[in-house]
Amino acid sequence: MLRTLAILNQKGGVGKTTVTLGLASAAAAAGRRVLVVDLDPQASASWVLGVESDATTGTVADVLGGTSRRLDGIIRASAWTDSIDVLPSAPGLQQLDSGSSKRLRKALATVEKRYEAVLIDCPPSLGSLARSALTAARHALVVVEPSALGLRGIGGVADLIDDVWDSANPDLELSGIVLNRVPAVSREAERRIDELARIVSRQAIWRPEIPQRVIFNEAVGDRRPIHSYGSRATEPIIVFDALWRRVRGVIRAGQRPD
Ligand SMILES: Nc1ncnc2c1ncn2[C@@H]1O[C@H](COP(=O)(O)OP(=O)(O)O)[C@@H](O)[C@H]1O
Ligand SMILES: [Mg+2]
Repeated sequence: MLRTLAILNQKGGVGKTTVTLGLASAAAAAGRRVLVVDLDPQASASWVLGVESDATTGTVADVLGGTSRRLDGIIRASAWTDSIDVLPSAPGLQQLDSGSSKRLRKALATVEKRYEAVLIDCPPSLGSLARSALTAARHALVVVEPSALGLRGIGGVADLIDDVWDSANPDLELSGIVLNRVPAVSREAERRIDELARIVSRQAIWRPEIPQRVIFNEAVGDRRPIHSYGSRATEPIIVFDALWRRVRGVIRAGQRPD
């Protein structure tokens, strides 16, 4: 759907959750409402946003498993701000064999209009959860570390996007590659970014890249948005404000009738 982004990569630890939370933080700072959908069974995004998985109110597992189609009771307000809502994850999510990859899409369609963007934080795999996310999304955003190991597996992500585009979601687009943990000066990183530009178009590689900064770790531990750190996070805040503007740009472009 038009305002929905899936943030993905099959590798763990590349920064999917960091990007999801950084974008949510930037959106809230700009006064925009967003919904964070936590599709990772580890529930990191839910935890950082102050929303514990709760069987009584329901989780995204109820949506994927077909026990609940209504999101109204399941979506919770984040502890950060009124502008960020959360569709929380559940620990058993990976065991759930989602019978239909369209359930999440159908459920999100009922609430999408309330938000400027819906950000789906994907698990580190390319299984049925990632498929559900891509089926629901208009835009795929791939988080990549510009290293030799970081680039391995990009082909698998691109293949899954193609496959979902072909079989379930003709509106899906690989809208951006976000570079994370980029060292200030590195010939190696530059070479890898050039290599990436041969696989996807150079315009698909979003700038600015996200630098390696300990404040990202700290923010997770404190369960706080990076925008709350002020001058201690000046560069990360500038970077995520710019990435959020890119997100708004692709959403607006995607909504324009051809
Ligand atoms: N640019 C960065 N600088 C420093 N630490 C980072 C950066 N990006 C991510 N991290 C840290 O790396 C760990 C893994 O990141 P995370 O976003 O959880 O990855 P993923 O969701 O892809 O598994 C977290 O502890 C996070 O704080
Ligand atoms: Mg994660």
